[in-house]
Amino acid sequence: MSAVATKSPDLAPITDIASLREDFPALQQRVHGQPLTYLDSAASSQCPQAVLDAVVRQQSLDHANVHRGVHQLSERSTLAYESARERVRDYINAASEHEIVFTRGTTESINLVAESLGGSRLSAGDEVLITWMEHHSNIVPWQMICERTGARLVPAPITDAGEIDLEAFDRLLTDRTRIVAFVHISNALGTVNPARELIAKAHAAGAVVVVDGAQAMPHKRVDVRDLDCDFYAFSGHKMFAPTGIGVLYGKERLLEEMPPWQGGGEMILTVSFDGTTYNALPCKFEAGTPNITGAVGLGAAVDYLARIDFAALEAHETALLGHASERLTEIDGARIIGTAADKASVLSFVIDGIHAHDVGTIVDAAGVAVRTGHHCAMPVMDRFGVAATARASFALYNDDDDIDRLILGLRQAVELFR
Ligand code: ALA
Repeated sequence: MSAVATKSPDLAPITDIASLREDFPALQQRVHGQPLTYLDSAASSQCPQAVLDAVVRQQSLDHANVHRGVHQLSERSTLAYESARERVRDYINAASEHEIVFTRGTTESINLVAESLGGSRLSAGDEVLITWMEHHSNIVPWQMICERTGARLVPAPITDAGEIDLEAFDRLLTDRTRIVAFVHISNALGTVNPARELIAKAHAAGAVVVVDGAQAMPHKRVDVRDLDCDFYAFSGHKMFAPTGIGVLYGKERLLEEMPPWQGGGEMILTVSFDGTTYNALPCKFEAGTPNITGAVGLGAAVDYLARIDFAALEAHETALLGHASERLTEIDGARIIGTAADKASVLSFVIDGIHAHDVGTIVDAAGVAVRTGHHCAMPVMDRFGVAATARASFALYNDDDDIDRLILGLRQAVELFR
């Protein structure tokens, strides 16, 4: 039987961040004959070998459905799945495993809260306060539930630097505000929002707070009890785990009173044609067979992250971002979109006279992967008067060589298009 850890391993913290690059097989390859320079981790990060091993082990030896069998493999699978939940709980310091709902990712987590909490609490005259820097996944679910309930969606403006306009936020936060939803770190701008301050303000106004933590999890050590958020949503694939797995953290008191969202197996206790009774948390919100292998991969990613010294990681990533921002000034006509005082690991930029997609295509030929487009944040693009940006996003495995190769690729783009 394969070994299943029930707790994050108690090892010395890793401070040598540069040494971590070797753990990622994807980064050892060449593309277009060049060493791969992967600068698209805000879209999806790569998996370390430890996560790949856990996924292969689960699928090779322990694969069976969870909570449904008395046979050996089902028991192992259930243990692996539930131990992943416990490791996530421990990692984000949630009070109980009842507060960790496995979902498909951040998008599904926010849809769950919008539909279940929003659907039961919102009515005409109520407001949901978000910000102009939200990803579509923290806009559209709220628009949909507001349309259904008659509530109003209110976006708080952002400044030219890409920070929340706190005076406007304070003005827009009123006794009509039932829910405040905001992004911890912006995927399009890199802005790190003052989460604790915003949460405290929202609570003082009597609102429930939902935080989109998708971009924060790979860069910050998040403690949900320290933040005191009511809900925190994140995705495995931004934090070195596979795609298709994510988490909704919610305070137990709130999850308890929320109605189930999706119906099906697992989320029930009894079913008859007279009615259905629902399962306890977190199963109440996990209808159907879950992404078991994804959860196991996420558990391994959490073990990996738990070993890292986050002060060293933040210093490494701040230095990378500073270096990249400075080197970008060498590119004629380049302009950074998003210049917040507190930024993390995202360099969004435009180059005069060259479409972002052309920038992306040229640097790809040089082996450099960046994302181009509106980054699922069209209101941000509107705010800055651009249709699209090119975005280099960094993770713990990037280094100065990656930035040198990006700048070389950008020079080639400028030479070709000017
Ligand atoms: N939200 C992801 C990104 O920012 C897909 O690229």
